[in-house]
Amino acid sequence: MKIFNTRNQLREYLDELSPIGQTIGFVPTMGALHEGHLSLLARSRGQTDVTVCSIFVNPTQFNDPKDLEKYPRPIASDTEKLEQACCDILFHPEVGEMYAGNEHWHLDIGELEHLLEGKFRPGHYQGVTQVVYKLFDIVKPDLAFFGQKDYQQFLVIQRMVDMLDLPVKLVMCPILREPDGLAMSSRNIHLSAKDRQHALVLSKTLDWLKNNFDRNRIAALQEECFDRINAEPGVHAEYFEITDGTDLHPANSKTQNIVALVAARVGNTRLIDNVILRSRAIVHGS
Ligand code: PAF
Repeated sequence: MKIFNTRNQLREYLDELSPIGQTIGFVPTMGALHEGHLSLLARSRGQTDVTVCSIFVNPTQFNDPKDLEKYPRPIASDTEKLEQACCDILFHPEVGEMYAGNEHWHLDIGELEHLLEGKFRPGHYQGVTQVVYKLFDIVKPDLAFFGQKDYQQFLVIQRMVDMLDLPVKLVMCPILREPDGLAMSSRNIHLSAKDRQHALVLSKTLDWLKNNFDRNRIAALQEECFDRINAEPGVHAEYFEITDGTDLHPANSKTQNIVALVAARVGNTRLIDNVILRSRAIVHGS
């Protein structure tokens, strides 16, 4: 695996590949890699000639400096995992390489960035679009792979790609879960053994909803799920919403693509999860 820390070196290397028609798959990450990330890499390797993974803990998408500080950065074991997963290229820049000074530009993608996660993490998606735009500009991927766990992030990035007409196709890959149902996340390592058990209420509630979904009882089901999560000791639900999967507006009995999304604090750790309840052509590239 080739490792690059500067954009110029990475670009020079990739420029040599394009004349020979190699397609580029890109998996942007913030490291602390788990099976979920590796499944994105496997997908990229299956669909493209060269897979680039980036590891960059992007400061502009953290609205809580403590969260940024404690974000795990196990670069040695991440590098080993990428080697084992036969990743072709790792891009691992320093903050100064990605941001020149105090940048303030922001792309207005409309209300999507202010709903759900956007309400609880103001500015988060401005940071995400900034860094993903920069990474796309450096890597120039044909396909870019993102996890369904960050469902709203996928919609936000798709909106950016559509608005700017960027020549990249986004692929949404399914959520990977631990055997007991917990959605894989880099943040799970912060859960104590007790919190880890309490956290299962998220996937159990989503599962229950999937099995009991009735499009004529959306408001009641949403309330029931929110209450179930809040009833779990040590768990505080921030939101539980049953939405139109295309724009995250509240779903109604006629909505075609329906997604339930949840965010909750479990002890000191904030977790998100979701389930697609009804789907008509929202999942890109699958
Ligand atoms: O999903 C993530 O890990 C990050 O938000 C991303 C897309 C790598 C941007 O920093």
